[in-house]
Amino acid sequence: MLNLAVLVSGRGSNLQAIIDRIESGNLDAKISVVVSNVADAYGLVRAKSHGIPTRFLSLRDYPDRREYDGALARLIEKFHPDLIVLAGYMLVLTPAFLDVFPQRVINIHPALLPSFPGTHAQKQALDYGVKVSGCTVHFVDAGTDTGPIIAQRVVPVFDDDTEDILAARILEQEHDIFATVIQWIAQGKVEIKGRKVFVKE
Ligand code: GRF
Repeated sequence: MLNLAVLVSGRGSNLQAIIDRIESGNLDAKISVVVSNVADAYGLVRAKSHGIPTRFLSLRDYPDRREYDGALARLIEKFHPDLIVLAGYMLVLTPAFLDVFPQRVINIHPALLPSFPGTHAQKQALDYGVKVSGCTVHFVDAGTDTGPIIAQRVVPVFDDDTEDILAARILEQEHDIFATVIQWIAQGKVEIKGRKVFVKE
């Protein structure tokens, strides 16, 4: 069983999708802790209501991001996770964290990377005028949404889409693909070779 630590900054609907997949018996994983940089993140409420331990780590208690990420790594190490899942975590992790967990951190991004990294990805896609967008699950490196891509889902973009409508269409796919990728990792199917990720049958 894959031991997960999940990082959230907000509403936590992707966290919920992972919890639901575990509780339905379709994901061989356990969430040992949910950590947030935001005290009132709704994701923490969701975790608590499923009996999952939660922690809040305030940026204000540390002089800089290096110190903060070091403390975050020490906190998370105590739970011995096999995989760290960024589910709407809005800070870019630094090497002070990532070097502790090489190739063990994954993120979901609401666009087809490498297009539209960073914040407001759905608005970036609409403003650019693309005809398809989607979501990407990738390993995390020190860049912003630049790590090796594990899986992507495509959705259409329609002329009358608003940012909210497109975000909702993408989110439905996020909820499925994120838990699916975690299950692939739990089954040992995912292999990274340099920039490329291979998923075994
Ligand atoms: C999702 O769109 C995810 O792709 C992005 O942040 C959003 C988080 O949503 N990284 P939620 O907190 O999981 O509901």
